[in-house]
Amino acid sequence: MKICMIGAGYVGLVSGACFADLGNDVWCVDKDSQKIEMLNNNQIPIFEPGLEEIVTSNHDSGRLMFTTNLGLAIKSSDIIFICVGTPTSKKKDSADLHQVFSVATTIRKNINKYKIIVTKSTVPVSTGDKIEKIISKKIKKNYLM
Ligand SMILES: NC(=O)c1ccc[n+]([C@@H]2O[C@H](COP(=O)([O-])OP(=O)(O)OC[C@H]3O[C@@H](n4cnc5c(N)ncnc54)[C@H](O)[C@@H]3O)[C@@H](O)[C@H]2O)c1
Repeated sequence: MKICMIGAGYVGLVSGACFADLGNDVWCVDKDSQKIEMLNNNQIPIFEPGLEEIVTSNHDSGRLMFTTNLGLAIKSSDIIFICVGTPTSKKKDSADLHQVFSVATTIRKNINKYKIIVTKSTVPVSTGDKIEKIISKKIKKNYLM
């Protein structure tokens, strides 16, 4: 399968590396260009036991790719995992979901066929409905199931 991990942090990088190790083609995308440059040079920005070996071998084999180009990664994938941060909001006692909704808008702008979209970020109940509403706005009916 062709998989896109949006957010190459603890969740996106570790899960993406493991999906690649299972034989999938994985794009790990991050808006932090410094992080992507490091990963493209096989430098791992976080520590998890065994992660460096898995990232390096799968990156070298071409199954694990790193980019800041979210549109390209969305277009070339069958499954998209949203793995961006959801910090506690400074104004109210709830999660700040603006990164998740921003990613959903970018998915809508770049979706080119039916895709499975998974929210891996920690979000409150009903966020899935809001993401679906953003993505399904003005897209072709045969992209929806
Ligand atoms: N860390 C954990 O063990 C863990 C476990 C379960 C769930 N979660 C949840 O998963 C989510 C991610 O956690 P994390 O620890 O990986 O966070 P993280 O901060 O390590 O990684 C998030 C990454 O998303 C990137 N990002 C933000 N907006 C982006 C965009 N528009 N396009 C591309 N990249 C973007 C950031 O630059 C950052 O590198 C959070 O909601 C967290 O609560 C985390």
